[in-house]
Amino acid sequence: MQPKVLYKPHSREEVILGPEAKVDQVILGLETSCDETAAAIVLNGRKVLADVVSSQIEDHKIYGGVVPEVAARKHLESINLVINEALSQAKMNIDQITAVACTVGPGLVGALLVGVSAAKAIAFAKNIPFIGINHLKAHVCANYIETDLEPPFICLLVSGGHTQIIYVKNYREQEIIGQTRDDAAGEAYDKVARLIDFPYPGGPNLDKAALNGNIKAYELPFAKVDDFDFSFSGMKTAVLRLIQKEKVLLNKQDLAASFQEIMTEMLLQKTLQASNQFNINKIVLAGGVAANSGLRAKFLNLPDKYTVLVPPLKFCTDNAAMVASAGYFVDGCYDLDTEVFSRV
Ligand code: KG4
Ligand code: ZN
Repeated sequence: MQPKVLYKPHSREEVILGPEAKVDQVILGLETSCDETAAAIVLNGRKVLADVVSSQIEDHKIYGGVVPEVAARKHLESINLVINEALSQAKMNIDQITAVACTVGPGLVGALLVGVSAAKAIAFAKNIPFIGINHLKAHVCANYIETDLEPPFICLLVSGGHTQIIYVKNYREQEIIGQTRDDAAGEAYDKVARLIDFPYPGGPNLDKAALNGNIKAYELPFAKVDDFDFSFSGMKTAVLRLIQKEKVLLNKQDLAASFQEIMTEMLLQKTLQASNQFNINKIVLAGGVAANSGLRAKFLNLPDKYTVLVPPLKFCTDNAAMVASAGYFVDGCYDLDTEVFSRV
């Protein structure tokens, strides 16, 4: 494969990025696609020198979900602080950075613009390459951090807005082989959590409650979809019907456990189907829902013939270390005119 060649914006000098490069590379990653303002510094795509995340959970809690305008304003308040904190954690100054990578989408447009404007300004002022990164590809790269993972592998990517099975052929080629036809897994968690009356953020709170519940207490539908695709929109309707029917008898923890069991089983089975069909036994998880205790347990308890890798919790949910790693490993948009986008 041809090496990844980037150019410094003013001098137009070549910078070769990625495993083909002969010199060490320090990438500053920025992430502002939703409700986390994050900056990280990563050496050669794997070694984290600094990792700073400022969460907005408290700011959105009172609304029961993320308010885009509030998110954008909070990013604006925090972006310079997290960048400076990352540089200070890594004991570096900005002149030691090789390139700056930032999520350009999918995400909330106003929120993305804050990180991307900061990244472009740094690239322009310091004459270093800008790398616009797809957030979903960055989630996959979370698995390279502090590991020696190499492609090919199958990745189950489960976030708030997306659910995909990806065949990662090599560092630069990620082929989506299956995805949800309606709601994402995280979205299903958040909607069902709201129905059961768990506070925001729904997914993690439902996960906690599920730990003490009976997985067999309630029967929920196992959606059968062709190929490697998923469908989760029926889950919220099924849970709603159950709540309406059983109001008095309903046990929140049991319902959470029953929901978690069926969700994780649907995700597991499709991933195994893909792994078998592609004859690839190396499986990794990515995205916020990969922080789910039930899902992690199911994958980590697979028979020995599978090699399973699950990122630590802090690299499952949104962070900038995965963006910096993606800047090194995957292809991005390198033009300073690159625009942000909300959907894939
Ligand atoms: O990847 P992420 O941090 O942001 C997006 O790119 O969307 O994923 C956020 C999603 C939310 O839907 C959240 O409820 C879910 O991940 N999530 C969880 C858990 N932690 C985060 N879902 C289930 N169990 C968890 N422990
Ligand atoms: Zn994400």
